[in-house]
Amino acid sequence: MKDIIMFCGKGGVGKTTCAAATALHYAAEGKETLIISTDFTPSLRDIFELESGEKLVRVVEGLYLAEIGAEEVKELWDKKFGAEVYEVFSAVVDIDYEEFVAFVTTILPGIRDEFMVDYLRELSESGEYEKIVWDTAPAGQTLGLLRMPSLVNQHLKPAPRIYSRLKASRRMKRSVLEVIKGWEELSNRDMEFLKKGVEFTLVTIAEALAVRQLDSIFHEFQSYGLNINHIIINQVIEKPDSAFLHSKARMQQGYISEIASRYGNEQRILPLFPYEIKGTERLKEVERVLFGDG
Ligand SMILES: Nc1ncnc2c1ncn2[C@@H]1O[C@H](COP(=O)(O)OP(=O)(O)OP(=O)(O)O)[C@@H](O)[C@H]1O
Ligand SMILES: [Mg+2]
Repeated sequence: MKDIIMFCGKGGVGKTTCAAATALHYAAEGKETLIISTDFTPSLRDIFELESGEKLVRVVEGLYLAEIGAEEVKELWDKKFGAEVYEVFSAVVDIDYEEFVAFVTTILPGIRDEFMVDYLRELSESGEYEKIVWDTAPAGQTLGLLRMPSLVNQHLKPAPRIYSRLKASRRMKRSVLEVIKGWEELSNRDMEFLKKGVEFTLVTIAEALAVRQLDSIFHEFQSYGLNINHIIINQVIEKPDSAFLHSKARMQQGYISEIASRYGNEQRILPLFPYEIKGTERLKEVERVLFGDG
């Protein structure tokens, strides 16, 4: 069992719900747990029915919640990388610092994503939490995030040729090349962290569009050397009591068999509940299904 569990999948399939239930589970086991969202339109607070707008909120005993929004990313990125990247950048372009930070963190989403991975790595290395449950945005964005560390590294490869021709400004303590070397190492470390430190759970529903996406998600993960450890098939109709539900349940069973035969991962079925899942009581029902024996 790894200490960081990431939830990914198509939009609206139940990633946040499953992440929240998983976080409650670890907290109930007595582990100091953080549930963190890197979705810029997060819904964790709503699911836990929290009013507080604090950056870090205590949900229940042993469970903390943090949502990293666009503003936090800008702030944190600025603190960690801003000055350094600006030094390199301003050796080439004439740009104000404020403008530069805004540019990098909003217009270049890749840098933002790489930062997220790095932020989680540091959080994990700090040992502050025993478990970190990571809720993400719909698949496309998440995959971009996972691809980032290796992509940054790739893009830095021709950098020495370009930057060796530049004279670093006098303010710089290190040469541009040294700074870039540092980023390369950081990218490698972040990639290693994703491979070794993170467990991936893919949430899906038993419908054609979602099942068709699984192959491409699996392939993308493989191409970065990452493995999907679990699949949750959500919103499955278990006790159909009308012709309508019988018909839907039959359709779902076809896709469930398909997923079972195509993918060898540990798979769990989560039933469709007759209500939306909000608040810790209902999340605990989800937890019982995800972590029960059945
Ligand atoms: N098994 C279920 N039974 C009933 N309702 C469910 C179930 N799973 C999820 N839901 C409901 O579906 C909605 C979407 O769930 P959730 O927010 O967890 O999805 P998501 O994948 O995180 O969405 P997004 O891609 O927008 O982040 C919520 O209203 C949630 O209560
Ligand atoms: Mg969500």
